[in-house]
Amino acid sequence: MRILSGIQPSGALHLGNYYGMMKPAIELQDKGQAFYFIADYHSMTSLFDAEERRRNTMEVALDFLACGLDPQKTVFFKQSDIPEVTELTWLLHTVTPMGLLERCHSYKDKVAKGISFNHGLFAYPVLMAADILIYDSNLVPVGKDQKQHLEVTRDIAIKFNELYGKTFLLPEPMIREETAVVPGIDGEKMSKSYGNAIEIFGEEKVLRQKIMSIKMDSRSVSEPKPDADQNLAIRLMKLVAPPEVARDYEERLRAGGLGYGELKKALFEHYWNAFAPARQRRAELVNNLDYVREVLRKGAERARVEAAKVLARAKHAAGLD
Ligand code: ADP
Ligand code: TRP
Repeated sequence: MRILSGIQPSGALHLGNYYGMMKPAIELQDKGQAFYFIADYHSMTSLFDAEERRRNTMEVALDFLACGLDPQKTVFFKQSDIPEVTELTWLLHTVTPMGLLERCHSYKDKVAKGISFNHGLFAYPVLMAADILIYDSNLVPVGKDQKQHLEVTRDIAIKFNELYGKTFLLPEPMIREETAVVPGIDGEKMSKSYGNAIEIFGEEKVLRQKIMSIKMDSRSVSEPKPDADQNLAIRLMKLVAPPEVARDYEERLRAGGLGYGELKKALFEHYWNAFAPARQRRAELVNNLDYVREVLRKGAERARVEAAKVLARAKHAAGLD
């Protein structure tokens, strides 16, 4: 089974990325042949600073390796090291109905927010379809916000197969319900672009402040809180702390008597400890960037062999050979 996922080098890794995509992806390393990549071509739709892209790409590589990606098991690479993917993208463009892309939330949300718009942002799901189809991927672990992109991928593959004969496998998304949407400090979906993210790696003081600024209501400490399971700190606690610890805090909050300050302090401690081993590994990797570059180079070499095969199959099907 081929498992594939990608992440854009568009900013610091946060709890949403980690629990929504990275942790499930890392756990799948033992379940099949995993291919994970840094989507630097995709980042070009919204990041226009070359140096920042270079820096972020290295940061994502460090994050993934520090969090447990094992290059012995997983093919780990940078998207743009496989230029075949852009060639396949063109083939897919020509079978993609406009309406399919016009319906995409990712694009509509950006239009609604007034974010300046380029054609790449509109065409983004087609490049993503090429990423997935070019490795004959079966399973794609992602957060819920990517679900529609997976549907688009399947629609494009079906259309191509109908027109040119069976060429592509149909991939399945893997979305874990319990971490489908991790909330940010304001209660909205955690996202780099909403300024509500709690990063995984960063300065202790800054991260402590972020956690202490998680939005709470104005009910008094002693008041019982029947909706304790909806509390943002509790929801995050369930991700970073052992289940019995999180349950205990939830019960105390529900009964009344647990102050929000105390709860958030505890959340910080559990979060900080949960990532202590990864922080340690990351610090070691930072001193060994040549190793990281070598991992990506070798990964690209292997990925390229697979990509070339599927591209050749698609070109043959379309009469381009
Ligand atoms: P961001 O919204 O911060 O820019 P990305 O779009 O780069 O994040 O997402 C990278 C991966 O992390 C995707 O698989 C996405 O579904 C997942 N992800 C991002 N934010 C969340 C979240 N708040 N909850 C669950 N998964 C998330
Ligand atoms: N669009 C994904 C995101 O923003 C990143 C991505 C690009 C991806 N290509 C992919 C994810 C292929 C899974 C499979 O998170």
